[in-house]
Parts: sequence; C-alpha cells; structure tokens
Amino acid sequence: MANVEQGARPPTESQASDGATHAPPTRDTLAVHGRSGPLRGTAPLVGDKSISHRALILGAVADGPTTLRNLSPCRDVGRTRDALRALGVAIRPAGGGDAGDGTAVVVHGRGVAGLDGPAVEVQCGDSGTTLRLLAGLLAGQARAFTLDGDPGLRRRPMARVVAPLRAMGADIDGDRPPLRGRGHRPLRAAEAVLAQASAQVGSAVLLAALNADGETRVRYPAPVRDHTERMLAAMGAPIAWDGASTRLAGPVARLHPLDDGTGAYRVPDDVSAAAFLLCAAALVPGSAVRLPGVGVNPGRTGLLEILGAMGAPVDVGDLAARAGEPVATLAVAAAPLRAAAVSRAVVPRAIDELPLVAVLATQAAGRTVVAGAEELRVKECDRIAAIVDGLGRLGARIEARPDGFVVDGPTPLCGARVEGRGDHRIVMALAVAGLVASGTTTVTDAGRTADSYPGFAAALAALGARVAVDGVEG
Ligand code: S3P
Repeated sequence: MANVEQGARPPTESQASDGATHAPPTRDTLAVHGRSGPLRGTAPLVGDKSISHRALILGAVADGPTTLRNLSPCRDVGRTRDALRALGVAIRPAGGGDAGDGTAVVVHGRGVAGLDGPAVEVQCGDSGTTLRLLAGLLAGQARAFTLDGDPGLRRRPMARVVAPLRAMGADIDGDRPPLRGRGHRPLRAAEAVLAQASAQVGSAVLLAALNADGETRVRYPAPVRDHTERMLAAMGAPIAWDGASTRLAGPVARLHPLDDGTGAYRVPDDVSAAAFLLCAAALVPGSAVRLPGVGVNPGRTGLLEILGAMGAPVDVGDLAARAGEPVATLAVAAAPLRAAAVSRAVVPRAIDELPLVAVLATQAAGRTVVAGAEELRVKECDRIAAIVDGLGRLGARIEARPDGFVVDGPTPLCGARVEGRGDHRIVMALAVAGLVASGTTTVTDAGRTADSYPGFAAALAALGARVAVDGVEG
C-alpha cells in the first residue's frame, strides 16, 4: 500500500484518442476487485484540502502563531506549505499526538503586510488552488514573484484571476502559468464580477483586498464554497457576504490567529474525500458507511443533495460549528438508485464530485443529465472527456456534452484497464466504478490520489473492499 503515495507524473504529454493532450499514464495502478461484498463501518479520511490551503495562507498573514491540527497531508497542500516557507514564513511541527506527520503545525504569522522580501519563484506542482490564491496574496506584498507549476497546471486558464487583480492595480501577467508579477501596496479596491462561479478566483481577490484601499466587492454568478469568507470573519476581518457577493473593507490592519476555542484550529475532514466512500456505499449492495467529523460547508454539499435525489439519502448528524465551519457525521446505505438532473445552479457546489455522479448514474434507473458544468474541462484534466472515456470502457452508456454528460442506466459494468489521466479525482471515481463492475478494474496513475486523498486505497480496504496497489493487496 505504501507506494500509493509515491507516484509522480512525468513532465511529458501525449495525444489521447479523443484528441486531447494529457500526461501519459504512469505505471502505478490501483486494481479493484468488483462485486466482492458490502462496504461497512468507517474509514480514515484526511483534513479538508480547501480549508487547509486557506488555514496555512491566512495563518501566514495573521498577527502571531496559529496552531493547525488535522491539516491535509495531501500533495497539493504540501505545495502551499512549501511555497509559504519559500516566502519566509516559519511553519514548524506542533507538539501533541499528531506531530511529525505534517498534519499538526504552528504557522508563525508575519502580519497582513508581512511577506515583503526578495524575488521568489514558487513551484505549485499541480495545485491550482495554491497558484491562484498565492497570486492574490502576493499582489499586495512588496516583492517580485513567479508562480509556476507542472505541465498540467501550465495548461490551466489564469486570465480569470489575473484580470481582476490587474483591475485592483496589481502588476501581474500571464494567461497560463508561469505568472509573473511585482507586488506592491496599497492596491485599489474594486468590484470584481466573476464570469465563473470560482471560489479560487473570489478568494484571490479577497486576499489582495486585505492590502487594498477601500471596499472590494466580489460578485459570484452562483454560490460557491465560502471558506475564505468564514475564516477571515473568524479572524476578525471586516467582511460581509450573502452567497451572491462578498464585501471586504481594506486595508486590514491585523488578523487574529484562527482559534476554534481550543487554542488551535482543527481542520474538518474533507467532504470531497468522503464523497468517494459515500458513493461507494450507496452503490455496493448491502453497504452502510458512517463518517464522523466531516466539513459540510453549504458550498460543498451538492453531492449530498444529488445522492438524496437519486434515492440514497445521506444522514447528517452531530452537526456542530468549528470556527464558523459546519462539521457533521455523515452516514449512507446502499439503495436502488434513480436518475437525476443536475443543473448549473448546483454545479459549483458539487464541482469536484461530478465524475462520481457519472459513476452513480451508470447504476441508476433512467437518464441522468449533468449540464452547466463546462468548468470540468479545465480541471486537472478534461474531466468530461476522462470520465466518459473511462466509464465507456467499463461498458457504461455515457455521452459527453460540451457542458457535461448524459448517462443511461442501469448498465452492468465489466472490469477493464482504464486511464486515470493524471487526475486524482478521475482515478478515485473510476476505482469506485470498479467496485460494481464484474472482475477486476485496473486504474492507471494511482499515485495521483495523494494529490488530495493519500490513503484512499487503504480507506476502501478498511471498509471491506478488495483493492491492490501496484499488485499488492490492501
Ligand atoms: C477550490 C475551488 C474549486 C475546486 C477546487 C478547489 C478551492 O475550483 O474545483 O478543487 O479550494 O477554492 P474553482 O474555484 O476553480 O471552481
């Protein structure tokens, strides 16, 4: 199981049968033996990736030290941690039980305007959140910077973040990585009307607004995850938001270290990681899974609503708030599934889970249509092409649309070798499909699961699935 964490994508590209360029498959594989019994109980998750990025970044500009617990150990969050260190922020292991594995750290905040310094080149790997959020943060710090990434990240659109930052007076350039800029203060407040319902872009603007003169407003075309807003409010920033727009009055003199009442901040478990286990349980007959301590930010719970609409309601219990973020125990059991219609309004609140909706739909009675989801084409890979190709190879009746896909179900799936396309969420979604396929499904690029959910294969095994990483049974 150990080498599930090790896979690295080679820096070359290949041409796929659908004409898209993407990284060639790596040899590391995740094999799933289908139809091998129910999934039951609970399994280890990881700290929320989106919240972990923000807790590190806002900790870096807080007034004084912040202790973070249950930080995601995933590769993408490691990129943000390393980038902040390169900017001169001390991030040290925290004392206590989970010290040493990187999930408990003290971030020594340098203040809202405390990251001035010499020119810096930041390598963001495949992490779009790292690159986009740091673009906003660095726009208002007095230093030259270059933000770059792996070939996959270099293909992703950045004008969406560069344009609103430039409207605030930021000196930053690049439609795709590398982005180059020279930070300065003060920036000017602006109204950013976002064309995409993107939390990354909205968060970048808010991070720049910390060092802007006046009130900055971000307008979203649809509600998105509001982790940045909640965290800034918990740290004492003058911020107000209602889902449609957010206002922040800058410049912000100081941010208090984040504290959930324990003298530290414990990151909730990741609902986007939980999603794979919940969908697996909903699909595999006889299953019942229960996951405590999961973040249920309303901008992230679209999949829970979709599961309910498809006939597998998720029980949300033990609801509590932790420094402004809702946390709950999620439980679901296998059920006969029916098709659903997923439209633009819910898409941003389920964006990372839509490949899983395709998997559910293969076993649901009727036609499932996902529309308004063209953003899927500019994620770590073209997720519409990837899931249509992967599920098609397993025998699903699925068709791509420019802005989503259509699936007719139910269809018996047959195990096959499928491509993870260097994308953690595609690897994991296809592995879940393998659980209901006959025989063995082998997914390439297994190591990419560590981008968001190291331990995914072990978690499936803990629930009773038969999986093997690089031929080693879990
Ligand atoms: C994220 C926002 C979403 C999501 C990504 C993480 C974030 O991206 O897909 O995995 O942490 O803000 P967009 O903001 O581009 O939609």
